[in-house]
Amino acid sequence: MSPETTPFAELGGEAVLRRLVDRFYDLMDELPEAYVIRKLHQEDLASARQKLFEYFSGWLGGPPLFEAKYGHPRMRARHMPFAIGTAERDAWLLCMAQAFDEVLPAGAARDAFWQRVVDLADFMRNREG
Ligand code: HEM
Repeated sequence: MSPETTPFAELGGEAVLRRLVDRFYDLMDELPEAYVIRKLHQEDLASARQKLFEYFSGWLGGPPLFEAKYGHPRMRARHMPFAIGTAERDAWLLCMAQAFDEVLPAGAARDAFWQRVVDLADFMRNREG
């Protein structure tokens, strides 16, 4: 895969991914349905915004910013301190689905990215219910 054809580039690169992550956390902050996960997060979402952007960058074939700072992502292990069941997964995906619709250009790159996000969010569940 040449650099021009990474999902990172196809989706619009850093500027677009930052907009996606910012919109996602704004929605988490605003939507009543997202309170179930908003309350798990720190009051200040600045570091969550930065880390999710860095993670997406590397995950999509762009600069591996998260790994460079924190080592292997081990996302499921990093989420173990938080009780994540179906309700938390669905609230997370609700915010992300809306952010995707608003920010990312429609097309195959968005669809493929969405499928990976859904799969990872489901894998993140660490308790029943
Ligand atoms: C399935 C539901 C999910 C819940 C409820 C959840 C919740 C959380 C919480 C509470 C934090 C800590 C934030 C803070 O310090 O304030 C966090 C961190 C993070 N989450 Fe999630 N998360 C979910 C799914 C995901 C998914 C699917 C991804 C990636 C696609 C992701 C990426 C991250 C990253 C990169 C961090 C920062 C990790 C670190 O501190 O090193 N999360 N998440």
